[in-house]
Amino acid sequence: MHPPEARGSEPRGGGGCAGCEFRPFSEAYDRDPHPTHAHLREHHRVYYWEELDAWVLSHHADVDWLLKRAPVGTSDLHWARAEAADAEASPWDRLRRQTITFQEGAAHARLRSSVSRTFTPASVARLGPAIAAAVDEAMERIGAGPGSFDLVAEMTGRVPIQVLGRLMGVPAEREAQFCRHAARLQNAINPLGDAASRADADASALAVRGLIEEMIARAERRPGDDLLSALLRIEPAEDRLAREELVGLATSILMAGAETTGGMVNHALAALLAHPEELARLRAEPERIGAAVEELARFEFPTKFVTRYPLEPIEVDGTRIGAGALVFGALGAANRDPAVFRDPDRLDLARPPGPVLSFGAGAHFCLGAALARAEAREMIGRLVARFPALAVAEPPRFAPHFNVRRMESFRLERGA
Ligand code: HEM
Repeated sequence: MHPPEARGSEPRGGGGCAGCEFRPFSEAYDRDPHPTHAHLREHHRVYYWEELDAWVLSHHADVDWLLKRAPVGTSDLHWARAEAADAEASPWDRLRRQTITFQEGAAHARLRSSVSRTFTPASVARLGPAIAAAVDEAMERIGAGPGSFDLVAEMTGRVPIQVLGRLMGVPAEREAQFCRHAARLQNAINPLGDAASRADADASALAVRGLIEEMIARAERRPGDDLLSALLRIEPAEDRLAREELVGLATSILMAGAETTGGMVNHALAALLAHPEELARLRAEPERIGAAVEELARFEFPTKFVTRYPLEPIEVDGTRIGAGALVFGALGAANRDPAVFRDPDRLDLARPPGPVLSFGAGAHFCLGAALARAEAREMIGRLVARFPALAVAEPPRFAPHFNVRRMESFRLERGA
């Protein structure tokens, strides 16, 4: 089928192209998306994804433009096929639409400014001991367990949620409940889920909302050094967020911060174990960990797409895309664009810093990038230092997810 708005001289979609296998929900893609990305970059700069009636951009220049300068919105209410009417929206959809990702213009700027005043480099640094403690606990479990362990169950599925709990001021007695709800919310984010998981999404949206409201009330009564307390203390008082804005922001952080950080570490470990010479380099020079995390985030990415909706017709490489269309920027494809990164398929922990898009760019640039990097440094650095014979015990098992290359389990051999 030809896309309705294509103005190119030839079909821009996969239709008719023998090399085209764009199936980003498949396990094969999760395992190794790079040949697909290379094909898109080379042959379908603007790819029409018929199955979703959507467009996919894979060149770094185009994704960067989409994020920074294109006349596009982030709320799905701009989508030509959006189911309108909030009144009829499910609890999950209502909560989702309150998140910062869906906000635009002045409302978005107001949220960003309150976060940048409260979630500062100093507050990330203050979380250092909490990150170290969560990783210590995981390392102890792994060290005391049998020779092989599941990285997801023992570390990457737990540490980021524990750290988010600390960031938000979840009291110790609520931590287990918080972790459970946060984990359910990760599943809820996945529109590939079936009817049962959608019902669960609504139930977890209500539970998460209840828990966040309880935490806000607690921070009002007894302020601590957590993010919610800091947001409630913003001066002048008229800059403070309203209750619903706070709920939306806290939900965003919970939704955006757990699965992605764990996913990044899973993929980083898989990449390092597949490149023993680079792993040896990191072990020999552990002070490289900061640069290593940057390169690993470029080389293997957890987040598949950013999503945008043109507010007016846009044109990319001669293809016209109508207002209200669904446009994806494939971050992982942009991160290996040879026009920007030399020898992009090579993992090179000494690569000079470049315009990596793993954390997005522009107005919606990831608010948790510094925290995610700090967690990744701690988890990766500690694992490779403590277990010199670390090896893959079983290839990772993936769970289909719309937007995260999500490992369900990844068994490693820890060695001595
Ligand atoms: C490796 C881990 C992470 C990755 C790969 C990642 C990736 C991203 C990306 C690509 C975006 C941009 C989305 C867009 O433009 O549509 C984003 C936004 C965001 N991230 Fe992250 N993220 C990570 C960790 C975190 C953490 C730990 C937090 C919170 C503590 C967080 C909070 C957010 C928030 C709140 C937004 C929305 C910002 C806005 O809409 O203005 N992220 N993230």
